[in-house]
Amino acid sequence: MTNHLAQRVRGFGTTIFQEMTELANAHNAVNLGQGFPDFAAPDFVKAAAQAAIAADVNQYAPGNGRLRLRQAIAADTQRRAGIPVNPETDVVVTVGATEAIFAAILGLVNPGEEVILIEPVYDSYVPAVIMAGGVPRFLTLRPPHWKVDIDALAQLFTPQTRAIVLNTPHNPIGKVYSRNELQMIAELCYRHDVVAVVDEVYEYLVYDDNEHISLAGLPGMRPRTLTISSLGKTFSVTGWKVGWAVGPRELITAVFRTHQFITYSGAAPLQEAAAVALETAVANTYYADLQKAYQARRDFLVEALQAAGLRPFVPQGAYFVMADISHLGFADDRAFCRYLTTEIGVAAIPPSAFYHHAADGAGMARFAFCKSDPVLAEAAQRLRRLGKTAV
Ligand SMILES: Cc1ncc(COP(=O)(O)O)c(C=O)c1O
Repeated sequence: MTNHLAQRVRGFGTTIFQEMTELANAHNAVNLGQGFPDFAAPDFVKAAAQAAIAADVNQYAPGNGRLRLRQAIAADTQRRAGIPVNPETDVVVTVGATEAIFAAILGLVNPGEEVILIEPVYDSYVPAVIMAGGVPRFLTLRPPHWKVDIDALAQLFTPQTRAIVLNTPHNPIGKVYSRNELQMIAELCYRHDVVAVVDEVYEYLVYDDNEHISLAGLPGMRPRTLTISSLGKTFSVTGWKVGWAVGPRELITAVFRTHQFITYSGAAPLQEAAAVALETAVANTYYADLQKAYQARRDFLVEALQAAGLRPFVPQGAYFVMADISHLGFADDRAFCRYLTTEIGVAAIPPSAFYHHAADGAGMARFAFCKSDPVLAEAAQRLRRLGKTAV
């Protein structure tokens, strides 16, 4: 039979997340693979969604999102990053950050143009570039410090470069880009007239004395930066898929033109609830409490991994820990993660999936700590067996 799949999707398999979740379920493993919280979403956010449905906010939201939410996003961005945002022209609400990234790439990149991606890379970026007909160019961050090699990055900028995609705080390595790195990246974008698409979905999850800085807030970057975020990670409602892009009118137009024909708009009552969440989070100390709870989870998991004989790279932000497993004698990260899931009962993600050369991720495993305390404790307990079961 003819292969009915279009060329543009033939290279996309099922995601590693699905594969590992199925394996975790089959073996009753504690799932530290997929990056979604297993604990309850905050009551004030759930109540706001219930109230919006009861009040019949149940018809299509405007294509660019409900005004109240755009105003709340504008106010939050202004407060957190000092970036002035016009809610009428500078915001578009999407179905999760994933749609915002996809719509941004599709709206900005012509076939044959290049997009710089920094790996390990969140798994939707490469398919977005490919579906736009663009060409991904990769800069690889290396452990243990995951620093941006600015000379190597500069080499990737060519006359065909249309955009660079950044993610800070970073999934999976937990890197929070420093001001110095962002300034050097800004300088390259400016010099080469390149647009930056910055995925900041973990903006409120930053540990120790690290500081999340928005590239859009650096001198000269506002006109050429799209900042993308969503409600899912910050408010533990990943299933709501309420996301957004913020930027100058011209770049938001690029996102909007695509978005209007992908989904047109997302769930109206959830947008209303998202507005309430953003409007009230500071006053009810939600962000500070969230940060504190995640800091404790991070510290717990890092210690548990160390106790099990792994070598975790302590994350500065987000809710994942990458750990070095290269000394344990496994063939690669997939073999290790399969063993860990089936024999030890803890599921993790093999990070080779985040690199265009699988070998770059073959000596590591990614663990999520967006899990409740008993689940993390059970994982720690099971991980102790790892040190005792030599391969
Ligand atoms: C870096 C990064 N960007 C985007 C997303 C997806 O965000 P959303 O669920 O809002 O589409 C995730 C989810 O894991 C992520 O880790």
